[in-house]
Amino acid sequence: LWLPLISLLALTSATSALDNGLMRTPPMGWMSWERFRCNIDCENDPKNCISENLFRDMADRLAEDGWKEMGYDHVMIDDCWSSMLRDKDGRLQPDPQRFPGGIAKLARYLHDRGLKLGIYGDLGTHTCGGYPGTTLDKIDTDAQTFASWGVDFLKLDGCYSNEEEQQKGYPLMSKALNATGRPIGYSCSWPAYRGGLPPSVNYTLLGEICNLWRNYDDIQDSWDSVQDITDWFFDNQEILQPEAGPGRWNDPDMLIIGNFGLSVDQSRSQMALWAIMAAPLIMSNNLRTLSSEARAILQNGAAIAINQDPMGVQGRRLLQERSQIEVYWRPLSQSASALVFLSRRQDMPYRYHTSLAKLNYTAGSYEAYDVFTGKTLSGLSAATEFTVSINPSGVVMWYVYPKMHYEHPQDDGRYPYFRQKYRMSSSLRFHKPRVVPPSLL
Ligand code: GLA
Repeated sequence: LWLPLISLLALTSATSALDNGLMRTPPMGWMSWERFRCNIDCENDPKNCISENLFRDMADRLAEDGWKEMGYDHVMIDDCWSSMLRDKDGRLQPDPQRFPGGIAKLARYLHDRGLKLGIYGDLGTHTCGGYPGTTLDKIDTDAQTFASWGVDFLKLDGCYSNEEEQQKGYPLMSKALNATGRPIGYSCSWPAYRGGLPPSVNYTLLGEICNLWRNYDDIQDSWDSVQDITDWFFDNQEILQPEAGPGRWNDPDMLIIGNFGLSVDQSRSQMALWAIMAAPLIMSNNLRTLSSEARAILQNGAAIAINQDPMGVQGRRLLQERSQIEVYWRPLSQSASALVFLSRRQDMPYRYHTSLAKLNYTAGSYEAYDVFTGKTLSGLSAATEFTVSINPSGVVMWYVYPKMHYEHPQDDGRYPYFRQKYRMSSSLRFHKPRVVPPSLL
């Protein structure tokens, strides 16, 4: 009885993830680097320097401004937190001026608010910012130090190490974190230091030892940077897309929405594309001074629900039209899917004509919820021709689902997954299916 069951299980788990049970959906939260960099000038810029105050402030914002409820539950310290010297026992220690309370106390502050703490390390002699790195002989010590502080997540960068050291070090840190007995999410920058593609990068191995990994260059505060990252990830989708899944994610880097480089349309575009990519939703912005537009985009319940879909299948680029319109698609649980129409144009809103059939949808009737306007389009069949108006460097994003038969037409319960976790516009209401056609299962 057991043998066939076991072989069946083996067949169904095509991709296996790091077995720490963490990050079954892409991680969400806030990280310091893109917005606050290595600003250590607390004397002249106390509000914006890398210090325990900054992370406590951001924790307060996450806890009090509705972020945590939407899933943004990590506060992640990036580079430049540590002292230039290890302590007398060879352990990393935070800069005493900027983190007088220590990391353990900061972790408690976060945990008391239902949040998690991430920290940054670097496999190599130094971090990218020049702080003490984790050489191979320090891996166990540093894993134990982080665990003893109550850290929940580690980003392990790769400056100042060579290929062989990375080949040894990234798997060793994975083992060392597991050996601490504390569940610690593990982000590996390894592929970004090896060009991001096979044969230099072994994604099968990465999926077994890391929860997420940086594949490519750092994001900067510009639409150019968002486009460059988007193009690299989708140009290489044949390789990258199959590697993602629950517990193992490609990481195109932080959300820069709310900073200085993106217009409102471009901000929606980053949110939409990161949702399609099943990317970690890690903001790097100033949560104290966010505009209401930026906040509405980052807290868009439908975009988040699409990003956090439990099936965890990364989406793909379907089309690059000569009109400079691109179409992206992601399959979702409950036979739903997400579509993004992106305009690379620089002139005026473009009226793009298509149909679901042209986008490979099978015959049937559908409804579409427009993620950024909150309107529902019903009565769509696969063959229905429709037009979407897409702003320059903007998107139209749809959540598409098959129209069901209703058992209790009076039951206005919302679509179960959305209802559980996210605030949705009241126009998005679903009904229990009476008969689910086998083709939809
Ligand atoms: C590298 C990483 C960034 C950031 C900096 C810190 O560039 O890719 O995300 O962590 O180092 O120095």
